[in-house]
Amino acid sequence: MSESVPLYHRVADQIQELILAGTLRAGDRVPSVRRLSRQQNISVSTVLEAYRRLEDSGVIEARPQSGFFVRRAPASVAEPESSRPPKRAVTVEVNALVDMVFSFARDPDVVAFGSACPSGELFALDRVRRVMMGQLKSEQGVLGRYGMPPGTEKLRRAVARRALEWGCRIDYRNLVTTTGCMEAINLCLRAVTRPGDLVALESPTYYGFLQILQSLGLRALEIPTHPRAGMSLEALELALAEHPVKAVIAMPNVSNPLGFSMSEAAKKRLVELLASRHVPLIEDHIYADLCFGSQPARAAKAFDRTGNVMLCGSFSKTVSPGLKAGWVEPARWTDRVRILKFVSSGGQNELAELTIAELLESGGYERSLRQLRRRFEAHVNAAREVIAETFPRGTRVTQPSGGYIIWIEMPQACSSVALFERVLQHGITIAPGPMFSASQRYANCLRVSLGQLWSERQELALRRVGAIACELGAGVATSRVSGEHGKNRRVLVNAGA
Ligand SMILES: Cc1ncc(COP(=O)(O)O)c(C=O)c1O
Repeated sequence: MSESVPLYHRVADQIQELILAGTLRAGDRVPSVRRLSRQQNISVSTVLEAYRRLEDSGVIEARPQSGFFVRRAPASVAEPESSRPPKRAVTVEVNALVDMVFSFARDPDVVAFGSACPSGELFALDRVRRVMMGQLKSEQGVLGRYGMPPGTEKLRRAVARRALEWGCRIDYRNLVTTTGCMEAINLCLRAVTRPGDLVALESPTYYGFLQILQSLGLRALEIPTHPRAGMSLEALELALAEHPVKAVIAMPNVSNPLGFSMSEAAKKRLVELLASRHVPLIEDHIYADLCFGSQPARAAKAFDRTGNVMLCGSFSKTVSPGLKAGWVEPARWTDRVRILKFVSSGGQNELAELTIAELLESGGYERSLRQLRRRFEAHVNAAREVIAETFPRGTRVTQPSGGYIIWIEMPQACSSVALFERVLQHGITIAPGPMFSASQRYANCLRVSLGQLWSERQELALRRVGAIACELGAGVATSRVSGEHGKNRRVLVNAGA
């Protein structure tokens, strides 16, 4: 192997070869760091770096006080095929279903596979609290004044620096801070569309986008999407030729709900295609820092040469959901977005922004990301095994490229809305497939969010969802939500099925 390859890469490759050859098998302990360092006459830190590399790619795992072990291979379950949404524009109507699922999101007695909010226990919230207190002391005036658009300079500079990791050269003066990524998307849509306009998006897609379209009176055009490759660019090109699309919303990295990350070539093609048609791309980058693997994910924005990509993100999934600190680089539409931000909320939450900026600048963000990714990947693998064992025969599951969300496609006879009603009686929520489609498709699909700590309770709950899905395979749908968690709730019988 070439000498220009760093030593720790070579050490990692040697271990990986031992695993591939079967010398080290799933569950085996790999040589201790000190032993390997002695054996190969290399430093302890080189071995540690090699092991971290293997951990990042999911080959081995650290167990507290025991060392590093070869991970069990993730369960082999088939993945869903590319989606085939209708080729027509539709008026959006998803709020009722979303409200239903979210009315249980914060009930501590519920195992909430339905909501994509990661558990507070996974974040270093003590540190967030300390940093916030520090900001209150050092920025005495912060509680007595309005934060004004475009937002705290310290955070905008920190985001611009971070964007270098995503391959983007962003001028911090073009950034506008927002109340989470949801507001960023909302502002972008308002900047480039008018009521009645048509917006193209992946299918299935994040229901939050559909809710924004619904609230702004926009119509949706769902584009076929592959669970590994992302939005079909051929289908998008055809759609652009046939329909007056005014904007495209996409999640090129770690999409919600399919979990794919597009290849760099596809991101580039997407950006070039839309630039050539003068259709703005609204890029949701919220999960990109949770991409598994050791390389940071490049944003589609990295390929933007014409100021046509509006890049949106937040720290809700990586630092603290409660701070709702988001941002947007609105490309050519910066002035419009800045004004819209002012009109929509009259200013920014400066304390939250200063806190995030300080956390980004004082180090430790990268380390906490590594921990989150490792944890989420372990959650995903554990859940896929449970699904392989317990869901009806023929069920397919995505293998996400990052984050903590999986998409399950059950056999046609299983209604995910009926499943929602049944599992709710056992204190469990799931997100039924029709929430993720403007045309209420995916009646046999569901999204499961694994952002809570994976525990026996979670595992048993998922097993129960699988067992009930098997019963539903016979085509039974309940007519009334009952039991402790179902009292007085609106009933959804086969909605969207
Ligand atoms: C894809 C996607 N975009 C945006 C959001 C909203 O993010 P925020 O809480 O920062 O507004 C979410 C939240 O679940 C999401 O999944």
